Parts: sequence; C-alpha cells; structure tokens
Amino acid sequence: MSEYIQVQNLKRVYKPSKEVIVNALNGLNFSIEKGDLISVIGSSGSGKSTFLNILGGLDWNYTGDIIVDGKDIKQYNQNFYRRFIVGTIFQQFYLIPSLTVEENILLPTKFVKSMNKYELNKRLEYILKETELTDRRKHYPNQLSGGQAQRVAIARAMIDSPKILLADEPTGNLDSKTGESIINLIKTLNKQEGITTIIVTHDMKIAKQTNKIITLVDGKNV
Ligand SMILES: Nc1ncnc2c1ncn2[C@@H]1O[C@H](COP(=O)(O)OP(=O)(O)OP(=O)(O)O)[C@@H](O)[C@H]1O
Ligand SMILES: [Mg+2]
Repeated sequence: MSEYIQVQNLKRVYKPSKEVIVNALNGLNFSIEKGDLISVIGSSGSGKSTFLNILGGLDWNYTGDIIVDGKDIKQYNQNFYRRFIVGTIFQQFYLIPSLTVEENILLPTKFVKSMNKYELNKRLEYILKETELTDRRKHYPNQLSGGQAQRVAIARAMIDSPKILLADEPTGNLDSKTGESIINLIKTLNKQEGITTIIVTHDMKIAKQTNKIITLVDGKNV
C-alpha cells in the first residue's frame, strides 16, 4: 500500500453552545503518499486548522477514519502518536520562555526516554546544525528573532524523528524573506529525513512549491 495517510469521510462538528452548530469539517477524503510534501489552502474558516489538529492527535472528537501507516490513528497510544508519529509547528511558536533553545528542543524527550544519552546528543547536534541554531543554543526565546524562534519550534518537532511534520501557517508571523528561509528548511527536512510534510498556508507562492495542493471549501476538499 503506497498511501501513507488516508483520510476517509472526516467530519468535525463544534457545538460551542446549545443553539450553535458549526460543521467545521464536512467529509474530507484524500490520501497522501509517504515522504510527500503537501499544502492545504482555503479561506479563513474553511477547516484547515481543524484538520491539522485532528491529524496531529490534538483533537479526537471527529467521525470518519484516519489511517496512518495502515493503522487507524485511534488505535495508537495517544502519547506515542503525538511524539513519534507526528511533529507539529504553529504560527505562534509556543516556546517556553524560561527554557533555553536547547532545553526547549529537548523538552519532549524528558518524559519518556527513547534514546540513550549518546544517541540523543548526536541527534541534538545534528538538528541544531540543520536548523542553524548551534550558536544560539544557550539563548532564551526572548533573545531570538522570529525566524530563529520558528526554527527552534521545528527542531523541537523533529527531535524524536517523527514520520509526519505538520505546519499550521508556519510563516504567518514572519516577514517574507524569513518565511522563505523557513519554507526552505522544511523542504530540506522533507527531503533529507523523508518526512511526510503538510503545510497549511494562505500563500500561493508557498503552496506552489509543494507536490500537491489540497483546497478546502466549507470543510470539504474540492
Ligand atoms: N473550538 C471551536 N469551537 C467552535 N467553533 C470552532 C472551534 N474551532 C474552530 N471553529 C470554527 O470552525 C470553523 C473552521 O475553523 P478553522 O480554525 O479550522 O479554520 P481555518 O481554515 O484554520 O481558518 P484560518 O485560515 O482563519 O486559520 C470556523 O468556522 C471556526 O469558527
Ligand atoms: Mg487556521
């Protein structure tokens, strides 16, 4: 089976109050191949973040099926799924202000050990180099530029070598030149690590650099 991610009739209904019902996802159907680089576009409110949050294992209140690597994601241990299957980055970088760059990147590894100290250190050095943060490792988030902060978030998402990288408007808070460098980094990681990558974006210039564009309209892919 060449389809790595299969999304089948995915629906998500929000009921923020008794009277209000929002059909945020209305039956998504598509599949994504292993190692592919995909973008998801669509107007504000079309369901892009809702979809990414579900695929990222942050929201399990959906109907339909998501199959990853031949297995329904509901059958994975949730913590395992969020750590070793998917890594997610957001428009807001969500770094911990009281931790250094290095400590932020290593944070996910503190809960359950997956590598020995030697392996982890090797991976950290490699990821710091790839994200060009080696000389900023002792900095705190408020001592970083926006582009550097997003690179820390990418490094943190990649530290445990997940299989899927999800990015929700990763350049939304950056100027266009810095945004371009972030997209280039994501493209490099996609190639080098073979990581299946999905970028949500408003920017057609970014979408055109991906292998396939998925367009959402009112919670459906068209
Ligand atoms: N927690 C929530 N409770 C209720 N409604 C929600 C919730 N989250 C999102 N929605 C609604 O679901 C719809 C889809 O929202 P979503 O955030 O997925 O859109 P989006 O495509 O990411 O938009 P944007 O481009 O503005 O980020 C919107 O109509 C939104 O108002
Ligand atoms: Mg969104």
